[in-house]
Amino acid sequence: MKYLIIILSLVSLSCGTSKDKISVYMSPTCGCCKKWVSHLQDNGFEVESIYENNMRSIKTKYKISQKNTSCHTGIIDSYFIEGHVPASDIRELLEKNPDVAGLTVPGMPAGTNVPGMETINEKAKYDVLYVRKDGSSAVWKHYN
Ligand code: CU
Ligand code: CU
Repeated sequence: MKYLIIILSLVSLSCGTSKDKISVYMSPTCGCCKKWVSHLQDNGFEVESIYENNMRSIKTKYKISQKNTSCHTGIIDSYFIEGHVPASDIRELLEKNPDVAGLTVPGMPAGTNVPGMETINEKAKYDVLYVRKDGSSAVWKHYN
C-alpha cells in the first residue's frame, strides 16, 4: 500500500509538470503565425511547428469551413485551434473539455489584444468562436 501511494504521487507529479503539446500547421512565409507560436510558448505550451505550403488541404482535412478559417491551424488533443486564439482560451477549452471540434478567430483581426497580430496600437473588437462538430459556431469569448 505504501508503494502504491508513492507510485501514484509520482504519476501526478509528472502530469503536473508536463506541458501542453500543440502542433501548428502554417505557411513557411507567415510572420504572424510565428508570433502566435511565440505567444503560446511564452504561456507554457510546447509547440511543434509544421510548415505547409498547401494550407487549404489542412482546412479541408480538419473540416474547417471557409467562414471560420484564418492563417494557421493548431491541433491539440482532439481540437483544432484556428487563427489567433489567445492561449488562455486554449487552456479553458482543455479544462472544460467540451464536445466541440475546436476554437477559431476567423480572418485576422489586428490589435494589441490579439496575440501575434499586434500590428496597430489599439485594441480590436473580436470574438473567439467555438465550432461544433456539425460545423455551426457560436461565441466562446468576446474581446474589446
Ligand atoms: Cu495570422
Ligand atoms: Cu497564422
